[in-house]
Amino acid sequence: MKALEGVRILDFTHVQSGPTCTQLLAWFGADVIKVERPGVGDATRKQLVDVPGADSLYFTMLNHNKRSLTLNTKTPEGKGVLERLIRECDVLVENFAPGALDRMGFGWERVQELNPCMIMASVKGFGPGPYEDCKVYENVAQCAGGSASTTGFLDGPPLVTGAQIGDSGTGLHLALGIVTALYHREKSGRGQRILAPMQDGVLNLCRVKLRDQQRLAAGPLKEYSQYGENIPFGDATPRSGNDSGGGQPGRILKCKGWEEDPNAYTYFITQAAVWQKICDVIGKLEWKEDPDFTTPDARLPRLNEVFDAIEQWTMTKTKFEVMEICNPLDIPVGPILSMKELAEEPSLRETGTIVEVDHPERGKYLTVGCPVKLSDSPVDVARSPLLGEHTEEVLALLGYSEAEVASMREAGVI
Ligand code: COA
Repeated sequence: MKALEGVRILDFTHVQSGPTCTQLLAWFGADVIKVERPGVGDATRKQLVDVPGADSLYFTMLNHNKRSLTLNTKTPEGKGVLERLIRECDVLVENFAPGALDRMGFGWERVQELNPCMIMASVKGFGPGPYEDCKVYENVAQCAGGSASTTGFLDGPPLVTGAQIGDSGTGLHLALGIVTALYHREKSGRGQRILAPMQDGVLNLCRVKLRDQQRLAAGPLKEYSQYGENIPFGDATPRSGNDSGGGQPGRILKCKGWEEDPNAYTYFITQAAVWQKICDVIGKLEWKEDPDFTTPDARLPRLNEVFDAIEQWTMTKTKFEVMEICNPLDIPVGPILSMKELAEEPSLRETGTIVEVDHPERGKYLTVGCPVKLSDSPVDVARSPLLGEHTEEVLALLGYSEAEVASMREAGVI
């Protein structure tokens, strides 16, 4: 039995943030019924298309293990179906633009009337405040949540990151809210409303940068490279390039082959506990006794000198050789892995983190499986549904007769 077996989700999500959340719930065993507009579906089905006529990877990789029901919820019959679905389901998840669900006639009050046990979970760009009515996509959230202003190099513009912390990150937050509310419902017997604003989710992931904002009041941030470079700090947390975000200085350093290979780099952390071993490895034996280098505090103004010397060594090794030499010595390093390397990594295939899926329209493709492993609730990744693939099945479950289904189909309701 899967962990969330018996939980039924009315999945009114689209694009990335909401689908990330409901895909996780489906992986943990919930029955996720994705409601999509007839003939159109989730906009991502036809975005960034690589196989003409087939659902895009954008869609398939975010909608595994779900059922698809097509339904025009703006028609009276469609609203009737939606009402029955709300009565039958435990959770309604949505990430429409602010106000869209109210305009459809299914605001929180109406949902509660229909099913007081219903948990209604929403992703929005912003929480209550000046921007609450805005439509928001990933990079807007990264910018408004503090990630962009703290990412990049000091002498460059703010940068967005490839990790989809606004969309997928908020989807993760929402999933936690939902399972928490399900747990709470066991005791209270009532549903509740959950809001996961993308700005808040990004800010939560940028927590250490708000930490640094407050530390600025006590003086310069000594672990930032700019401290050793004698560049004064302003009044906000600066961009810190590849500096480590914690108290153990680290950087991205060139490895053998960096001239041709854009990913021939390693992350290298000068953890205080292994400083002596680092000196041995890079051949800087004199630094073991030199008061300018022996303690972490002494090294802070000299990080450029330290990392330049380490890089002279890493440039003589491949990123994997650096790993092989440093790991047994407990020196924390990590190769910069390309998507190609990750896709081909056998251990990730074995753990089910990279999964090959077969799809009737597009054939085989790779996806990222469930990144959270439960020992008693293993995940089997099943392909995403075709548009409306389960419409009849779901309507039968709701008690509609074949004749009623046929008439709804003729009227374009489903
Ligand atoms: N039947 C009938 N109408 C449907 C429907 C269905 N099954 N499903 C959706 N619709 C309607 C909605 O009711 C809405 O209609 P309305 O605006 O007339 O009230 C309309 O489709 C469009 O919804 P909307 O959410 O505004 O889509 P969009 O493509 O214009 O905007 C986003 C996309 C992502 C910008 C927006 O949904 C948003 O800001 N969401 C919240 C934040 C978020 O999750 N962003 C990240 C996305 S990865």
